[in-house]
Amino acid sequence: MKIFIIGFMGSGKSTLGKPVAREMECEFVDLDRYLEEQEQSTIADVFRDKGESYFRELERRYLMELSEKENLVLATGGGTPCFFDNMDMMNRLGVTVYLKQDPEILVSRLLKSHRERPLIKGMDRVELVEYISKELVRREEFYNKASIIANNPSRDAERVVMALKYRAEINSQRG
Ligand code: S3P
Repeated sequence: MKIFIIGFMGSGKSTLGKPVAREMECEFVDLDRYLEEQEQSTIADVFRDKGESYFRELERRYLMELSEKENLVLATGGGTPCFFDNMDMMNRLGVTVYLKQDPEILVSRLLKSHRERPLIKGMDRVELVEYISKELVRREEFYNKASIIANNPSRDAERVVMALKYRAEINSQRG
């Protein structure tokens, strides 16, 4: 089974993805970290030196490469589903899980986070609230195409696992 975890920056994709991968007996990969390893560079440096479009091309390339794995839980980047036909491709190849996180929680987590995220670098609370509210509307057009939507992702790992096992069961019955 290929499982793609999607959601806004700070929604907890890796945090939820790891226990889900253990339960589903799948390999866990974080797309951002994989891209950084392959490129021997940080995402912040790629954005700075080559720009966002170049980053999106790389993201697409590694998404396709990793999608060849059979038993996979992939935590994608927040923007991954919103470029090219990435969302449709993930839906075609496997099951997508959207972690729908409360915007207030996203703001406070992103303000506390030490990881450098080029799209929101240097923003204060007011700027971040504005950015998230605008960007979420745009991105939810893609995120809402997910096969499973977790409304309470901080506590939903078990429910997500149940929904995934149910799907796996249905698929195996269909043959
Ligand atoms: C991005 C999210 C980041 C990373 C890059 C762009 C985005 O991943 O891929 O900085 O467009 O939302 P996380 O969602 O893991 O922070």
